[in-house]
Amino acid sequence: AEVKKIAVIAGDGIGPEVVAEAIKVMKKTEEVFGLSFEFEHGLFGGIAIDEKGTPLPEDTLEMCKKSDAVLLGAVGGPKWDNNSKELRPETGLLGIRKALGLFSNIRPANVFDCLKEASTLKPEVLEGTDLIVVRELTGGIYFGEKFRREGENGQEAVDTCVYNVAEIERIVRQAFEIARTRSKRLASVDKANVLETSRLWRETVNRLASDYPDVEVEHVLVDNCAMQLLRRPSSFDVIVTENMFGDILSDEAAMLTGSIGMLSSASLGEGAFGLYEPVHGSAPDIAGQGIANPIATILSVALMYRLTFGYHEAAEAIERAVKEVLDAGHRTGDIAVDKASAIGTTAMGDLIVNTVRK
Ligand code: NAD
Ligand code: IPM
Ligand code: MN
Repeated sequence: AEVKKIAVIAGDGIGPEVVAEAIKVMKKTEEVFGLSFEFEHGLFGGIAIDEKGTPLPEDTLEMCKKSDAVLLGAVGGPKWDNNSKELRPETGLLGIRKALGLFSNIRPANVFDCLKEASTLKPEVLEGTDLIVVRELTGGIYFGEKFRREGENGQEAVDTCVYNVAEIERIVRQAFEIARTRSKRLASVDKANVLETSRLWRETVNRLASDYPDVEVEHVLVDNCAMQLLRRPSSFDVIVTENMFGDILSDEAAMLTGSIGMLSSASLGEGAFGLYEPVHGSAPDIAGQGIANPIATILSVALMYRLTFGYHEAAEAIERAVKEVLDAGHRTGDIAVDKASAIGTTAMGDLIVNTVRK
């Protein structure tokens, strides 16, 4: 097959640990499916601040731009938590999403039957749950003007939330297209009872809905959505929402799968190019211990194969291998009911690698 260039930016904390397992799985699929990848590694996040004085060095961004897809671990940690905005790892993450035009963040929460016991929710509540959060990724309060000022009662901080119609349209259209390929139900989540950006969001969804008469649209206020996700998660199929609501709701949705260590993501623009990363962060509390769950990152590779490369067979093989390994009872600590029997990051990665087959 054609050689595909993969930019690897492993980042901080458990980032490098989980990315190493994902690369092992990719190498196995090279053998099994005749795929061919060229991996190039770049500094990113806190480690890039330490070594280059900036969370997103120019050469790292260039490497990503020249690649066919980006594999990202996670960034951040206590070491950089009191840094100024420019010297925060998270600023690099927002910067790379913006610079690569990745406005659409797809976060599927697939519930593996055998992991129902790992969730804090009752198994019967999880029955039939299979949803996707489509999160707007380059707008809203994350990217609005931010500043401090002196107010009448001392210092004030300001974060502004801005959305224009074009930004809303492109993400909502993607969500409609995804809904079309699934159960044809779209929940648009907003706070239109309070926020002007949400009222524009809702108007835009309603206008676009006429282009997708086959999709049934429901508007859900974000507070209610947070509650319904725990009450009857199976009632949702595709959820589309703005940047910050999507951030929060996707972590909540992670618990439907049993652990944040299970949730994969794809960040896309208009074309096939994409950045793939687990939804979780750098998990400083368990970093360096070799116990992080690599499945979120491994499943992100399956998303990469499907959405950027069209390697459907290999994507299915990865997902099947993950399912088989879980069905056989293997668990990292985060999804283990019996914590004493938990295995580590590389052991889980090895099991999945050894289970990938045609
Ligand atoms: P987190 O997702 O890193 O961790 C939350 C909890 O989940 C922790 O207890 C952690 O141990 C656990 N966890 C996360 N991933 C796991 C995995 N793969 N296996 C097992 N357990 C896992 O969120 P946080 O603690 O709020 O943030 C830590 C740092 O990560 C912060 O600096 C934050 O800004 C950053 N962060 C980065 C990203 C990213 O790079 N995309 C995402 C979220 C948070
Ligand atoms: C995520 C993370 C990031 C976000 C942070 C680290 C900037 O929480 O990818 O979900 O809020 O987008
Ligand atoms: Mn998040």
